[in-house]
Amino acid sequence: MNVKYAPSLLAADFTRLGEQVREAEDAGADVLHLDVMDGHFVPNISFGPLVVEALRPITSLFFEVHLMIQDAANYIQAFAAAGADRILVHPEISPHLHRLLQQIHDLNKEAGVALNPSTGLETLEYVMTDLDSVLIMTVNPGFGGQVFIPEMLPKIARAREMVRMSGRNIALGVDGGINARTAAATVEAGADLLIAGSSVFNKSGTVAHNLNELMLSVSAPSVRV
Ligand code: DX5
Ligand code: ZN
Repeated sequence: MNVKYAPSLLAADFTRLGEQVREAEDAGADVLHLDVMDGHFVPNISFGPLVVEALRPITSLFFEVHLMIQDAANYIQAFAAAGADRILVHPEISPHLHRLLQQIHDLNKEAGVALNPSTGLETLEYVMTDLDSVLIMTVNPGFGGQVFIPEMLPKIARAREMVRMSGRNIALGVDGGINARTAAATVEAGADLLIAGSSVFNKSGTVAHNLNELMLSVSAPSVRV
C-alpha cells in the first residue's frame, strides 16, 4: 500500500508557521492537514481561512482542511477560496451530509468525511460515490497530543473493506495519536493516509527526523520504538 503522510499544523510552532510547513514539505510530507475548530463542535478554537490563505503560496503541499465546526455549510466556500484542496466534514454536525459533500464538489474540491470514534460506518453507506476521502478519528476531536484509541483498529479494517467494495480511489486516513508506536498497526488495518501532529512537530526532534521515524515505523516495523 502506498502510504501518505500528513503532518497536522495544529502541533506546529505558531510563531513560525511558514518555516514549519516548509520543513514538513522538505521532509517528504505529502499532505498538510489543517484542523479548524470553532469552540462549539469541539471544545477548542484553532484558526480559520486566513491561515490557510497565508500558507497557500509558500508550499505546494496538498491542503486537507478538517472542519470541526458546527456551521460547516457557511464556511466551505471560504476555505475553498483560501486554497483547500480537500475539505473534510463531520456527519455529526449535520443531517445533510450529502448536501455538504455536493457543496464541496461544486467548488471543484475533493470531499471527505471524518468520523468521531463513536460514529458508525453506516453513515458512509449511501455517500460512498460522493467521497474522495474517509477519515477515521482515532481520538476524540478537539486537541492534539491525545492517546490513540486501539478499538478503532477494527473500524479502520471495516472502512478499508467498504472502500475496496466501492471500487473508488478513496483515501483512508487516521487522525489522532498517530506516532511511531501506533502507525504500523493502522496501516496493517488498512489506513493509507497518516495524519500526525505532535509526533511530527515537537521539541524533541526536527520535523525531518520525526517524520522519518514515523515513516520507518511503517516501512520497517521491526525498528518500531
Ligand atoms: C484532533 C485533530 C488532529 C490533531 C492530531 O482533533 O483532528 O488532526 O492535530 O494531533 P496528534 O497527532 O497530536 O494526536
Ligand atoms: Zn484533524
